[in-house]
Amino acid sequence: MVAVKVEGYTRVASVDEMPPGIMRKFDLGGKEVLLANVDGKYFAIENLCTHRGGPLDEGRLHHYEVECPWHSSRFDLRTGQVTEGPADIPERSYEVIVEGSSIMLRVK
Ligand code: FES
Repeated sequence: MVAVKVEGYTRVASVDEMPPGIMRKFDLGGKEVLLANVDGKYFAIENLCTHRGGPLDEGRLHHYEVECPWHSSRFDLRTGQVTEGPADIPERSYEVIVEGSSIMLRVK
């Protein structure tokens, strides 16, 4: 998906493309970022698991947590913190805003 930069934020999707219960990955300046919609709220963390690089977008969403498909580490989407190992390093989290129908991630 092509991302468009606007005033420090990057538009990654429209709200129509991200209904509740959905998570998808986006390329944000060379970084893979996972965007998830949990009960109408959007959260974004880095997509590659800090344990051994598993693709979190291919894992499972458990309310506010995402489970890595490789060794089942869990991360809190609100903070990036590890909630279950074997990972012990948190994921970077990204600020998400909604402008009109656009979902935007803060780039820095
Ligand atoms: S790579 Fe994610 S738990 Fe091991």
